[in-house]
Amino acid sequence: MDKIEIEGGKSLAGEVSISGAKNAALPVMAASILSSGENLIYNVPRLRDISTFGKLLAYLGMGYHQENGEVILQSANISSIEAPYDFVKTMRASVLVLGPLLARAGEAKVSLPGGCAIGARPINLHIIGLEKMGAKITLTEGYIHAKAKRLKGAAVYFDMPTVTGTENLMMAAALADGETLLENAACEPEVVDLADALTSMGANIRGAGTNIIRINGVSNLRPLNYRIIPDRIETGTFLVGAAITGGDVKINNCNPEHAEAIINKLKETGTNITSEGDTLHVKGPDKPTAEDIKTMPYPGFPTDMQAQFMALMTLAQGTSLITENIFENRFMHVAEMRRMGADIKVEGSIAKVKGVELLKGAPVMATDLRASASLVVAGLAAQGTTIIDRVYHIDRGYQRIEEKLKVLGARIRRVKE
Ligand code: EPU
Repeated sequence: MDKIEIEGGKSLAGEVSISGAKNAALPVMAASILSSGENLIYNVPRLRDISTFGKLLAYLGMGYHQENGEVILQSANISSIEAPYDFVKTMRASVLVLGPLLARAGEAKVSLPGGCAIGARPINLHIIGLEKMGAKITLTEGYIHAKAKRLKGAAVYFDMPTVTGTENLMMAAALADGETLLENAACEPEVVDLADALTSMGANIRGAGTNIIRINGVSNLRPLNYRIIPDRIETGTFLVGAAITGGDVKINNCNPEHAEAIINKLKETGTNITSEGDTLHVKGPDKPTAEDIKTMPYPGFPTDMQAQFMALMTLAQGTSLITENIFENRFMHVAEMRRMGADIKVEGSIAKVKGVELLKGAPVMATDLRASASLVVAGLAAQGTTIIDRVYHIDRGYQRIEEKLKVLGARIRRVKE
């Protein structure tokens, strides 16, 4: 298993380019199931999760090819309606094939995801929504088996906003008979990107980006020719990397609007951030001031940035309260940060982070994707050497993070095993 080794204490300086958004690319790739032909998707990041998803689509009978930032998916033939456990267990987002497979093939069999490192993460809301649309769903031997000759438009109210749940139902509704109304839908930019991609295929969707989405089903959809939005979480991670090292970094090819909650909060800590077009210019403070955050659905502060922001707060002036409202077990990084000298106490969903003078490098373990990113930014600021084990987690969601950081002057290297 590869490790990442960081010699901390060097300010980041220079320019970095943001890759396409993983969590937008995955549902857009799933949307190709709804067409029959050659789908072209641009600005797709080169990540492990993307190749895993491509392999799943290939398992379903589609052609999959990725060259640099371009993905080509041939969707003329779907020869299997099953997403096996082996895929779903390595990547929960595999569940995104459920809605489009059911709409295209009239049947889908998808392994039920198990628990994961950040929480139980059930998919009951996906299932309830599809049932409302007329699907007959059974759960057998760990699989969700859904059948519907043609799905029917329906009114679906989500008990809580769910990103992939909204995406699954939007894809299913795109080819359903009649109008589907999704209420309390997720408003994330990735949901809007999927709606834009589906619209470019000929779907009739209004309201994406608000919590009420209306979809009028059509009888068929054209293949994709679509460019994915920049990754707002990668953007946020580099913003924090610059802030925590007192650096001076230009972040290119990003969408500052999508990162507004992160930018505003970082400004409150004393970080200087200006934006011009698709570029952000960030200058870190000598010492950040402590600020509280509460993770919320978009446009609130994203749960996917909670760990990285906590890394910054470990070195802040004062005490910060960090409340995790989306997932029940997303503080796995706390114990690792403590090994680096951080002063953090957790009570239920709240972490109390008392800023310390300095972090000291230590061997630490990555437990999930964003936790590993937080340990990388902590390592950049720490005194001495930090060795992060199990970096396959970070490879799921950050394209060549160590190479991008090296260009910014970080003393970082990947140790192959
Ligand atoms: N939930 C339910 N029932 C459901 C669906 C969700 O109770 O049927 C709960 C979840 O347990 C959670 C909350 O609703 O407490 C929100 O979960 P959501 O469904 O929105 O999360 P997701 O769609 O599984 C996506 C991202 C995550 C990101 C969350 C929240 C993708 C592929 N994944 O997950 O990204 O944290 O939204 O914004 O889009 C990551 O990239 O590191 C990552 C974990």
